[in-house]
Amino acid sequence: MALDLDPGLAGAGNPALVKAIIGEMDGGAISFERFMELALYHPEHGYYRKPGRIGTGGDFLTSPAIHPMFGWAVGAWCEWTWEALGRPHPFTIIEPGAGEGALATALLDWAEGRGGEFAEALRYIAIEPNAPGSDRRVEWREDAPAPAAAGVVLSNELFDALPVRLFEVQERGPVEVYVRWDGEAFVEARGPVATIDGAPAAGRFEVSGRAHATMAAMCDLVERGAVLTFDYGYPVEELWADWRRQGTLLCFYRHTAHESPYLHVGEQDLTAHVNLSELELAMELAGMTAFGPATQAAFLTEAGLGGLVEGARDDLPEYFTRRRAFQQLTDAAGLGRIRVVAGTRGVEGVPPGFGGPA
Ligand SMILES: C[S@@+](CC[C@H](N)C(=O)[O-])C[C@H]1O[C@@H](n2cnc3c(N)ncnc32)[C@H](O)[C@@H]1O
Repeated sequence: MALDLDPGLAGAGNPALVKAIIGEMDGGAISFERFMELALYHPEHGYYRKPGRIGTGGDFLTSPAIHPMFGWAVGAWCEWTWEALGRPHPFTIIEPGAGEGALATALLDWAEGRGGEFAEALRYIAIEPNAPGSDRRVEWREDAPAPAAAGVVLSNELFDALPVRLFEVQERGPVEVYVRWDGEAFVEARGPVATIDGAPAAGRFEVSGRAHATMAAMCDLVERGAVLTFDYGYPVEELWADWRRQGTLLCFYRHTAHESPYLHVGEQDLTAHVNLSELELAMELAGMTAFGPATQAAFLTEAGLGGLVEGARDDLPEYFTRRRAFQQLTDAAGLGRIRVVAGTRGVEGVPPGFGGPA
């Protein structure tokens, strides 16, 4: 005898979250942006509320999870900025969206291991409203601190995790995508026509209503110093190129990428590429000098990551670990295509990684 195996709401994802989203829809539709916000950041059941999302046992890998080398290179970049500012004490690193703190730990270990004045001047603040880390050398906060007199604001894959508005170009022009529950699954509905400067003439595309304000707020966190941001993204003309018919929205579930945001709701990551032109404009409006975008591959190579691999030749297991990590971090089809942008204020010259004089 066959049993009734219908999983009900669990067929769409985390049943408590699916129920909460259906409740908010109240028989109607919500914008895709709100759907993405609830899926990722619902106060109780959102995807990022639980630890363990990033890493081999989670759904996707970020650069700090590959090897501490990434954090060592970022640490050296911060030390360069500290030197360029005249070695201020204290020197504050602020990292919004720090996750469980892999970058913070690697960077602090690197500074501690070298010892000296930079390590003594360092103070590290992580802003993480969801599942924060536990490294006790880090000050963990849910919201922004007061601006630091001198320091660096870092982010890695923060902007690509911000909820986006989704549009589809129809005969009438771009219409916003909404989401409703049809009794069995989340399905799309269409909103009114919107006017968006420079929007693609066909297909789907995303607009971030939060990226500009987030970057502006990051720039305001340091009076003198820099912002350094790593994220998947393109300048607007590439992001909204007419040939890109499906936009950039991607879902990650157990290390498999796919394009269905309405599956595994609350159990998969949702991400969209970032408009880098918008980030650079926000930096410039905040009084910073903007650099980039550079690819992560070019940035890390110029910073000397290859030397760390060669430096481990006498320890073969570590040599092969670093060599593999270097390949992953600079892979042009993977993490290496992440773009790096920086903004500086009160710092002379081109920062390392952006093609300045060697
Ligand atoms: C893709 S994860 C990246 C985590 C970490 N930076 C890494 O590279 O492994 C994005 C992180 O940004 C956090 N986040 C999202 N919106 C945020 C906000 N407005 N302020 C601070 N953190 C935020 C999320 O909770 C999540 O931990």
